[in-house]
Amino acid sequence: MNKLAVLTSGGDCSGMNAAIRAVVRAALQHNIDIFGIPKGYEGLVNGHLQSLDTRSVSGILQRGGTILQSARCKEMHEESVQRRAIDQLHKAGIEGLVVIGGDGSLHGANALHRLGFPAVGIPASIDNDIPFTDMSLGVDTALNNIRYAVDALKDTASSHDRAFVVETMGRNCGYLAVVSAIACGAEFALIPEQPFDLDDICGKLRSRFTEGRDNSILMVAEGAARAEEIAAQVKDRIGFETRLMVLGHYQRGGSPSTFDRLLAARFGVGAVEQLVLGNSGMMVGLACGGMEFTPLETVLDSGRRKIDDMVLKLAETLVN
Ligand code: F6P
Repeated sequence: MNKLAVLTSGGDCSGMNAAIRAVVRAALQHNIDIFGIPKGYEGLVNGHLQSLDTRSVSGILQRGGTILQSARCKEMHEESVQRRAIDQLHKAGIEGLVVIGGDGSLHGANALHRLGFPAVGIPASIDNDIPFTDMSLGVDTALNNIRYAVDALKDTASSHDRAFVVETMGRNCGYLAVVSAIACGAEFALIPEQPFDLDDICGKLRSRFTEGRDNSILMVAEGAARAEEIAAQVKDRIGFETRLMVLGHYQRGGSPSTFDRLLAARFGVGAVEQLVLGNSGMMVGLACGGMEFTPLETVLDSGRRKIDDMVLKLAETLVN
């Protein structure tokens, strides 16, 4: 193998740069030329490539975002577009591709693999909804971002006897909301995986304040409900001041945590090794502290990763 390429696709997350750096350095160590594809599959289909070396990835390890930039490319679902992407790779003499991204990006990698082009996926999405890995890249940093924000909100909430409704990202997965609720000592976590009763929640919130507690935090996963509506309802029903904080894209940025930097290193080096070994169509993952390599087909056929029972049990005991 003489030439590899790497791209980042879909929603960005912290740790993507660290993963690019690991891929580049691992490839160079195998004496393989390495190219970056700007703007994900969109850049690939348009034949955009840039040569990468150790200097191009120096100083990026600690930076959030992705130096290659990212995009969501709907056209990549079409076989004609996938074939065009492969033509571009062949034209440039590229023999393998590392795709860093979430569910949609991994679908793209699998499509290329099925059409005969060697591709390997690195799971990267703050949602932590990709199966066959305990953690996706970017999740730990997002959790740290949320923790930092909620700790600060608790300070100001306590000064005013206020309840805060905090909306987290995660599309249809409540992982960020429930784990943050445990880590930040929130009173409630509304997640799409579990039904909730707002009357009951408001009753408990009201009692908390009348018993003398000076703050309450209600974490709401974006897929569970509209946080704005929840905040308005809570405000009307409990009779204590309520404020809303939508954390939004703040969760995806910032310098990656040590955990994410290490995960990026393992995933990046592991992905290049898979391609060097001739293993196409695989996803690198983390399982019980070790590396696991799973066919993309299996990953994608399994649907979305579920929140671990252990996490839900902890929340049952501690978030109330
Ligand atoms: O999948 C990652 C994610 O951040 C989701 O949590 C969120 O719903 C979505 O992307 C937001 O997408 P965009 O960046 O396109 O607004």
